[in-house]
Formats: sequence, structure tokens, C-alpha cells
Amino acid sequence: MLSNLKAQPADKILALMAAYREDPRPGKVDLGVGVYKNAGGLTPVMRAVKEAERRILAEQDSKSYVGLAGDPAYSNVMIELILGESVARERIAAVATPGGTGAVRQAFELIKLANPNAKVHVSNPTWPNHVSILKYVGLESVAYRYFDSESRGVDFAGMLEDLGKASEGDVVLLHGCCHNPTGANLNLTQWQQVVDLINEKNLVAMIDIAYQGFGDGLEEDAKAVRLVTSSVANALVAGSCSKNFGIYRERTGILMAISADAETSVVQQNLNYLNRQNFSFPPDHGARVVTTILSDPALRADWAAELEEVRLSMLGLREQLAEELREQSGSDRFGFIAQHRGMFSQIGTTPELVEKMRADSGIYMVSDSRMNIAGLNAQTVPILAKAIVDAGV
Ligand code: LMR
Repeated sequence: MLSNLKAQPADKILALMAAYREDPRPGKVDLGVGVYKNAGGLTPVMRAVKEAERRILAEQDSKSYVGLAGDPAYSNVMIELILGESVARERIAAVATPGGTGAVRQAFELIKLANPNAKVHVSNPTWPNHVSILKYVGLESVAYRYFDSESRGVDFAGMLEDLGKASEGDVVLLHGCCHNPTGANLNLTQWQQVVDLINEKNLVAMIDIAYQGFGDGLEEDAKAVRLVTSSVANALVAGSCSKNFGIYRERTGILMAISADAETSVVQQNLNYLNRQNFSFPPDHGARVVTTILSDPALRADWAAELEEVRLSMLGLREQLAEELREQSGSDRFGFIAQHRGMFSQIGTTPELVEKMRADSGIYMVSDSRMNIAGLNAQTVPILAKAIVDAGV
């Protein structure tokens, strides 16, 4: 039986991680997978996470199952963190999931159960795994224009025009903040226009928010999600704690489903059912760490302060890189790097030039020219700028 298997297409982000590891050159620079690294190249355990883990280790007296939806206390703190007061609690069904990817997967499965004919409209480009998982679960994806390769900002007119062609009941997948892979984001006026279109055409909003706190701040980054959830009839929100709590390997995510007309208890029961079919109980450790931090004012303040340091360090690197490129290229054409937000910027060049930078200078970025800004430090910024200019980007 197993001999019938054919090789699956490689995930380009994970393939790049492997290629980087195998490169023996000492000066290589990893701008691939979306993992935060400090100036010393480490992905540290955040202070508040260490403290929460210490408390859990001391106090936890059972490892028995929690519940199919995870711990309700976790759902409550995550709902408050992401949605704030934008929706009445009784309208929200929520389940803990294995990471943000688990939440995305469960969201797609929920769509499939509710309306297998729905098309899911995704930005062009989007996180490649969105398209890959949609295909795997058997939902049709349709790309809408998003990244303007000239300005390296959002092609908003194109986006509205394409979404205007969506049919009633279709799903519009949006990145809540810090768009992955481009780094180009809508402003709140544009978000309002998208909300109006969703309402006009009776579409379903789905938001993937994996980088809250990495863009303009914890509250700022949640504004778009809250605008959507307070204004549309049906919304799915997939959240991740991997990045903003730095607990990547703990697989800590949440899926929230909000509906104006459905019975929340029935939606909740469907979410629990999907968890049971796919993996039964969701992982608990990361969720418990997050709940401990968000429920304790002092720990929460310390976590928010450290997250803010992370955000500001990425912003500083963006500014330094834009400035360095201005000097080395003698032009302003890379100014967009300081305007983009979050972990990534897509510089908008060809896979051939990305490959040239890898071969000539040991710079590893995804073939679509996405670079992880957090993979840089003050010493590697000029090296990257030189590689970009030398490659003729
Ligand atoms: C990324 O886009 O690099 C991250 O979200 C990690 C992943 O799983 O791809």
C-alpha cells in the first residue's frame, strides 16, 4: 500500500530552513522561516513564559484531559486579547487548537461542513500553507489582487474589484495585521471599505492573526479584527500565540467562530466535534502558560513590555535597512521597507535574483522574495543591503 505514495510538493519555507542548515558558509544570513531572533541570533524564552512555567511546574497536580475545546479560561483570555469588547461573549464559540495552523485547518474544515461549495478568497500572495491546506481539505481557493509590485504597498482598487466578484456565502480570508508574506497592510479606512463590501455581498470574513503585537502594538494590531467582528454577521478568527509569546513549539492557537444568526451552542458543538475527529484534545501546556500570563496583571505587564521591545527592535532594523539601502543604492526605492509592518517584507524581486543572493552572498530569503526582518541584526543589515544592490534588485 505505502508503495503507492508519491512525493508531496515540498513546503518552500521549510525547504529553505533545511538548505540554510546545510550551508557551511560562516557568513550566511537566515531570513527564511518566521521566527523571531534577538541581536545574538537566539529565539529566547520570554521572561513571563519562564515564570509562568515555573508556577505551573510547582502547582500543577494533574495531567488529566481538560476538554475538547481546551480550558475555557484560555478561550476567555484569548477572546479578550484579540477581540476585546467588540462582540458579546455569548455570540462567540471557541476552541483551542494546535498552533495557529491548527486553527486555520479547523476553520477550513468548519467551512467545509457548513458550506462545501463556498470559495475561499485569498490574497495574492498569501501564506503558502493557506492555499495548500485549502486544497487538501477540498475547498476551492480564489486569489484576489493584493500586493502592488510597483509600490510594494496594497493594490487596494484591485483588491476591491476582485472581491466584488465573490458570490454570496463565499469566505474572504484576511490577515489581521502584519501581512505574511508581504508586510503591506490595509489602513483602517480601507478595512472599513472591505467590511462594507463583505456586508453588501453577504460574505463570510475569516481572519488569520498570527502576529498581534509585532506591527504597531498589541491594541493597534487588534483594531482591524475588532472592526470586522463588530460589524459583520459571520466571522472566523484564527489566532496564534507562537510569535507573540515566543512559544512556537508548544503549538498554541485558537479558533473563534462568531455568528449573528446561528445558535452559538451548535457552532461550539461542531468545533468540539472537529477537534475530536482530528486530534481529540488540544495541547494544554502552551495554553496554560498564556492563561497564567494574561490572568496575572504583573506577569501580563512584563510580557507586554518584552513584546514591545521585540516590536521596536524589528522596527529599528526596518529603518536601518531602508537607510542603508538608500545610501548604497543612491535612491529611495526601498523606502517601503520602513513602511511595512510585522516580521516580513517582500522586496518584490524575481526567484532568480533571490537565488543569486543566496549563491553569491549566503542570503536566505523565500523564493517569492519574502525576508524575515527579525533574522537581521545591526551587523548583517549592511551585508544584506550590499547583496540586494549587487544582485541588481
Ligand atoms: C512562516 O510563515 O514562516 C511561519 O508562519 C512559519 C510557518 O509555519 O510557515
